Amino acid sequence: MHSRSYIQEQKLSYQQSLANQLVTAVIILNAELAIVYANPAAEALLNKSLYRLYNTAAESIFAKTSINSTRLKQLIATGQEFTDSDIVIELNESHRFTAEVTASSVEFAQTPHVLLEFKQIDQQKQISLEVFQHQQWLAARDLIKGLAHEIKNPLAGLRGAAQLLSKEVSEEQQEYTSMIIEQADRLTNLVDRLLGPNQLPQIKAHNIHGILEKVCQLVSYSNGQKFHLLRDYDPSLPQVECDQEKLQQAVLNIVNNAIQAIDEIHDITIKTRIASNKTIHGKRVKLAVQISIIDNGPGIPSKIQDTLFYPMVSGRSNGTGLGLSIAQTLINQHQGKLSCHSRPGHTEFTILLPLKQQPLNQTPLSQENEL
Ligand SMILES: Nc1ncnc2c1ncn2[C@@H]1O[C@H](COP(=O)(O)OP(=O)(O)OP(=O)(O)O)[C@@H](O)[C@H]1O
Ligand SMILES: [Mg+2]
Repeated sequence: MHSRSYIQEQKLSYQQSLANQLVTAVIILNAELAIVYANPAAEALLNKSLYRLYNTAAESIFAKTSINSTRLKQLIATGQEFTDSDIVIELNESHRFTAEVTASSVEFAQTPHVLLEFKQIDQQKQISLEVFQHQQWLAARDLIKGLAHEIKNPLAGLRGAAQLLSKEVSEEQQEYTSMIIEQADRLTNLVDRLLGPNQLPQIKAHNIHGILEKVCQLVSYSNGQKFHLLRDYDPSLPQVECDQEKLQQAVLNIVNNAIQAIDEIHDITIKTRIASNKTIHGKRVKLAVQISIIDNGPGIPSKIQDTLFYPMVSGRSNGTGLGLSIAQTLINQHQGKLSCHSRPGHTEFTILLPLKQQPLNQTPLSQENEL
């Protein structure tokens, strides 16, 4: 038989780790309606650490929503819990989300408190949309790969036959055979791009910034005068297990698009951060490296936004529409995710690469800085 105090101690330790593991964001307010506790999911949702949130008035979070101090005080007085859905919480201009909020009263140290639980609705919708789009992308890619494969073999035969023929015909007629060869080569090139990267990634630990700098160097050599390249790197990023060449190619495809999007000089920012609690193709990832490529160009044409990553979708008259599909394949090979948010004046591509091992310090420095 275990003693009562032992069981109580166990219970507290389970409760503590449970709160830390929960996907639901949980906040506790004291009787003055100031924050006294936020679990890690709440810290991530509000983009602030408990240290920063402590003693913040609940009103500052719920401004312009149906949850106000009168209702929360009433809850403390009567114990009548409530749930409000579709609460739009606006933390600042660029950070707003829709949530279902449940408020109930709880007692700690014999004083009444308010327990707030947040279910982020837009995130759930976004996750289902992402999973659906990913499946569509896989189906489109497989179809095109199958087609490309079927074209490739006869194409090689065609080219070989034209080569043999060129030895038999007069010099004048060789003009025709070399045209066949030239066009067959052009098609083979296209078909190879359609088939996508076919080698398995060579995974090693790399410094992400080294890879990004290589991309910056490559684009500056060819189009340096067309844009301002800005870096916003987090120097405390740990090394990432990845295939250097493949990651470089993926980022290059995205940066090239940003360069091609506009003729005037504009800004392209490459930003790196540590991200926590992200969802990658329906799976929850505790820590990931986030690379963002942001430009202030005209934005992605709205008619291609939903199918942007599908092969052969292009908004440019001379584009093949393969750059992003290839980038997507390369990032998927790293169990990562490539996504995009775009409006006129701000296009942001985000690459998430899961970190397999936690860095030695549980909370990465960068995260603390950001919170
Ligand atoms: N940063 C951006 N700003 C505006 N539009 C973009 C941006 N990135 C991509 N796009 C749009 O997305 C389309 C698809 O890009 P993707 O790289 O897949 O193909 P592409 O650039 O047309 O051709 P390819 O890369 O194969 O030469 C582009 O044609 C362009 O219309
Ligand atoms: Mg492209």
